[in-house]
Amino acid sequence: MTQTQAGPTAGASSSSALLEVTNLRKYFPVKSSGLIRRTIAQVQAVDGVSFQVQAGQSLGLVGESGCGKSTTGRLITRLLDPTSGSMKFEGQEIGHLNRKQMLPLRREIQMIFQDPYSSLNPRHTVGSIIGTPLRVHKIVPEKQVLNRVRELLEVVGLNPEHYNRYPSEFSGGQRQRIGIARALALQPKLLVADEPVSALDVSIQAQVVNLLQDLQKEFGVAFLFIAHDLAVVRHFCPEIAVMYLGKVVEVADRETLYNHPHHPYTQALLSAVPDVKQAAIGGRRERIRLEGDVPSPVNPPSGCRFRTRCWMARDICATQEPPLLQIGPKHKVACHFAGEYGAMPTSPITLHALGVNQDGQPIAGATPSAEDLNKPGFSDTWTDVATHTHASSGMATDAPADNRADKHEGGEGGSIR
Ligand SMILES: Nc1ncnc2c1ncn2[C@@H]1O[C@H](COP(=O)(O)OP(=O)(O)OP(=O)(O)O)[C@@H](O)[C@H]1O
Ligand code: SF4
Ligand SMILES: [Mg+2]
Repeated sequence: MTQTQAGPTAGASSSSALLEVTNLRKYFPVKSSGLIRRTIAQVQAVDGVSFQVQAGQSLGLVGESGCGKSTTGRLITRLLDPTSGSMKFEGQEIGHLNRKQMLPLRREIQMIFQDPYSSLNPRHTVGSIIGTPLRVHKIVPEKQVLNRVRELLEVVGLNPEHYNRYPSEFSGGQRQRIGIARALALQPKLLVADEPVSALDVSIQAQVVNLLQDLQKEFGVAFLFIAHDLAVVRHFCPEIAVMYLGKVVEVADRETLYNHPHHPYTQALLSAVPDVKQAAIGGRRERIRLEGDVPSPVNPPSGCRFRTRCWMARDICATQEPPLLQIGPKHKVACHFAGEYGAMPTSPITLHALGVNQDGQPIAGATPSAEDLNKPGFSDTWTDVATHTHASSGMATDAPADNRADKHEGGEGGSIR
């Protein structure tokens, strides 16, 4: 697919992002049993994840259970300490801040939790639950706290006079609204919403998603919206990142991701989402059933982590990890054979970036650019998967037709970004 149009945030400079995450890792130690508990392995829950969230925008983070979505959310809200990597909020590095240093930032970054039953203290009234952050951060004078609680209850569609009730007196959907009011109390710039509707009935899910959308419009708050299926984020997030076993495997604007997914895993996830438009014209996306279970993050597969379940896997997939290569103005994918379903290339598109030949062997003198590919956001230039040449938002800077990645097996160094 040849792309020539730049998206709205293509080439956005990293400094303009509200949140910028680079190469973020979280490894949990696995301890031996017995008296002396030694670390015998690591759960690689999040392993080199990079992305950006722009101010007032929403990024969807999607993937199967256990792929590291909640861990990513908890790292950003600093409920967990990162093993390595960078997290910048408004340009300030927050990964190493201690509790005291984080306090002013807690106002700016809030979290909505998946389970509205366990995330609210059953012994506190709603007024106390929503009022506590207002008091701790001295948002309003004490005598105005109750009024502000009432206002917030109204904003999320609850009766403002129910401030003296306990969480058990509300339904699941109403409790989630209380959690949203609590998160909004500090007027944050970023809300990490960790599966905010998956514990709710389908009929209530749409109401809560609509509420979040309205709040975003009204208060200009940015969202990292975590979900395990692509249907939920579809209407909420203009940009979506797909995670598999601790890594981002594809990130793109919504239209590209839904209409032209290039990673086999995204294609499989999307094949399970009912497509109303295609059904209307009589077509149906062919259902792709993934074989096998998600491998253990303690001992993930070598090379591409998806290879044990991928119908496209070849030898190079076991030896070389595919970099997250930009293949369009707002499209990145981590697959050696990225392409539209049924039209994937026969030769790897990642050889230039890795500086290797078809067999995965290093090319003498090649300049691999894979490290640079871990930068969050999108660049003004990318690799055109059809021709393996440079493309850009302005003029395409195509190399000659014989300058294709699959021809580069000699000593010529090359780097495509
Ligand atoms: N505190 C912890 N100690 C050890 N391993 C952990 C810890 N927290 C999470 N993990 C492991 O890290 C991996 C990622 O977990 P995480 O909760 O981030 O997944 P998830 O994508 O949010 O899944 P789900 O959709 O089920 O909520 C899992 O294998 C999980 O078992
Ligand atoms: S790199 Fe190989 S194994 Fe991984 S998704 Fe692409 S084709 Fe499948
Ligand atoms: Mg989770």
